[in-house]
Amino acid sequence: MPTTQLREISPAARLENVRYAIRDLACVADEVSKQGHKILPLNIGDPLNFDFVTPPHLIEAVHKSMRDGKNGYSPSSGVKEAIEAIRGEAARKGITNIHDVFVTSGVSETVDICLAALLNPGDNLLTPCPDYPLYSAVLSKLDVPLNTYYLDESNGWQPDLDDIRKKITPRTRGIVLINPNNPTGSVCTRQMLEDIAELARRHNLVIFADEIYDKLIIDDDPHLAMAKVASDVPVITFGGLSKNYLAPGWRIGWGIASGEAQAIKPYIEGINKLLRARLCANHPEQYAIKPALEGPQDHLIEVKRKLRSRRNLTMKWCQETPRVSCVAPRGAFYAYPAIDIPEDDEIFVRELIRQKHVMVVHGSGFGQRPGTKHFRIVFLPDEKTLTTAYAAIADLLRERYN
Ligand SMILES: Cc1ncc(COP(=O)(O)O)c(C=O)c1O
Repeated sequence: MPTTQLREISPAARLENVRYAIRDLACVADEVSKQGHKILPLNIGDPLNFDFVTPPHLIEAVHKSMRDGKNGYSPSSGVKEAIEAIRGEAARKGITNIHDVFVTSGVSETVDICLAALLNPGDNLLTPCPDYPLYSAVLSKLDVPLNTYYLDESNGWQPDLDDIRKKITPRTRGIVLINPNNPTGSVCTRQMLEDIAELARRHNLVIFADEIYDKLIIDDDPHLAMAKVASDVPVITFGGLSKNYLAPGWRIGWGIASGEAQAIKPYIEGINKLLRARLCANHPEQYAIKPALEGPQDHLIEVKRKLRSRRNLTMKWCQETPRVSCVAPRGAFYAYPAIDIPEDDEIFVRELIRQKHVMVVHGSGFGQRPGTKHFRIVFLPDEKTLTTAYAAIADLLRERYN
């Protein structure tokens, strides 16, 4: 008689805190789609879902690398020409004191490896609130409790320095700074970068500078890298092809480790142990890194023109719509308006999907100050789609709360 496994297999208890609001809403959207409605997706941070295309010279580079037989494993840190190109780009951004560069399967894997290589049980890491949920998911996996600091809406969503100071404990090992920010679209001031660097110096923190959107500054101001401002501080700068180079499905990200050599070298050895253990990042796609960073950047002109027009349309709607207010995004492609409603923002967002077939993500899915309510808009869709979606959101606000 063959035996059958009947007992339930429960997942690890540490996954309790893993939340990914964006994907969780998908169940509601599925219901609505099954009823035959088309959903307007203002929730997906993937430019390729909209009218953006991967630059053809990058596709050609990957195609060529496959034809040239680059289909085996690569070195664990990445192929030489890619690493040199990332170093060159870092130098152009004024990052000095670089001790290591490594290529990973998206920034998602850089984050996974860098946090796992740093944190012991009992340690904590400062992450922003609202946050990009990858960080809290990785911390849950490591059984490391959340220690969040607020971004300050009344100060253009800049990090709240007083809150950061209050939250630093003797076991705080580092701080995550997402700049330009997801979900608020804010860009840090030089003064803010300097102040955070000073706190890091004083408390021996590693700074994780998630700069994956650094070329998507909407109004053309230059982006200032944290590692440039803090060349002596241990900083891991995250970058990749997903956003700036419109190739999220290739899963190519990287980390740049900089700072005082003596301080950062043992940590870099730890990172490299984990890099070796997982063999390597996607091999052929790494050959797009050099042409991306050193080749024509023409696509960025068009991308930023679209983002500027769609950001402006979004802000106009926010200004004209009762119950809605929003800090103008300056980078990336997200807006994070506050809504003045008498119920949870999650209920509002679920009803928006059910009744108006528009999908945004509730602020409580990213974390927010108690008593405040928000939703995140991805303003990647074209102007016509955005206009239709915004009219539907305004209708629901009026019908439900007036
Ligand atoms: C702030 C931030 N960091 C990291 C990522 C993940 O990037 P990747 O596609 O390189 O894994 C995203 C994706 O949306 C993001 O918004």
